[in-house]
Amino acid sequence: MSTDKSDSTPLRSSAVINEAVQSLREGGLVAFPTETVYGLGADARNPEAIKKIYAAKGRPSNHPLIVHLAAPDKYDVAKIDWAALLSPWVRDLSEDALLLVNTFWPGPLTLVFKKDKSVLNELTGGQDTVAIRAPAHPIAQELLRKFKGGVVAPSANRFGKVSPTSAADVRNEFEGMLDLMVLDGGDCDVGIESTIIDVSSGDKAILLRPGVITPSEILAKTGIKVYQPGEVHKHEAEALPKVSGSLLAHYAPTTPLRLYSPGRVLDALSEFPDIKSRVAVAVFDSETSLVLEDHPSIDVEEVIVSSNSSAFASRLYRSLRDLDQQGWDLILFPEPPAGEEWDGVRDRLQRACFGSGPSSSNHDSN
Ligand code: TXA
Ligand code: MG
Repeated sequence: MSTDKSDSTPLRSSAVINEAVQSLREGGLVAFPTETVYGLGADARNPEAIKKIYAAKGRPSNHPLIVHLAAPDKYDVAKIDWAALLSPWVRDLSEDALLLVNTFWPGPLTLVFKKDKSVLNELTGGQDTVAIRAPAHPIAQELLRKFKGGVVAPSANRFGKVSPTSAADVRNEFEGMLDLMVLDGGDCDVGIESTIIDVSSGDKAILLRPGVITPSEILAKTGIKVYQPGEVHKHEAEALPKVSGSLLAHYAPTTPLRLYSPGRVLDALSEFPDIKSRVAVAVFDSETSLVLEDHPSIDVEEVIVSSNSSAFASRLYRSLRDLDQQGWDLILFPEPPAGEEWDGVRDRLQRACFGSGPSSSNHDSN
């Protein structure tokens, strides 16, 4: 929630949300905060509204969207009948899938189910499955509750670009292109997109996108083993749905971005022999300061980043966006340490490196 909660009266904020609900009902787009990143929302039962999302993002129409749902009322989380809420969207809901839902919703976990036949092909990219999540952010929940239906919401950024984690980021992303209603819920806590797990086979749960909810946490809380795509049989892997975030180049800034191994900043710089006068180097707060005095030709500025994986994730896109605006010639980030809790961050950083640089707009916006 925004920190100025105290001076915005409930009446005023609910009037704004009512307006957003009205806009969704009329087939409009509304950007709203979730605990992960901001989403660009549209009525999941309205094909024309869904087309507007693809057009606004510049996203290929075969890349499916996530349906966002909320419980109908202010609730006691333990008492929500998620199976009933899912039934208009999902068929063959397995026991394991329901256990995941009951354990982690609302929260930053998206599940891919076999879809009910009423679910629009426009949102599933023609696949037989549908991705669904219940966001934990109170503004997202209020919007969804009042709308009384599913809202598709990709991250509110242009295709291939860094996801927005504040209302201002969303406005910058679509400035001059789209007259968009943006609900302001302050900065997102989680900071990277939800974990995605495919439960559509009814058999194995398979990780499609790492996030802050990790396979270990899932195993500890539910006893369910989540497989990496590399761990399943070839025929199972081939059957896996497409994930647009699985493109190599994604989440990318325009400034070239590279990773350096611990203590090896100079090695990373040597990749750029004709360097490069202004370099921003992110440094873990646990590290002692860099020693770069023997590289007089480079103007290096250190940016301290957290050595706690959740705190790092929470600030990652904010840092990338801000650094991208500051006119650096090169941005260096430390390679995340080994360990599953860093997988979500590592995944986003590697893709951001791959797609970064002035040509990044060509990589992905086709
Ligand atoms: O945290 C999040 O999940 C955010 C917030 C706004 O909820 N949303 C988000 O949406 O990241 P988007 O569209 O940027 O990413 C959705 C991902 C894509 O990688 C897409 O391919 C995958 O979900 N996806 C959607 N439907 C799918 C399906 N039926 N099967 C497999 N993957 C699917
Ligand atoms: Mg996205």
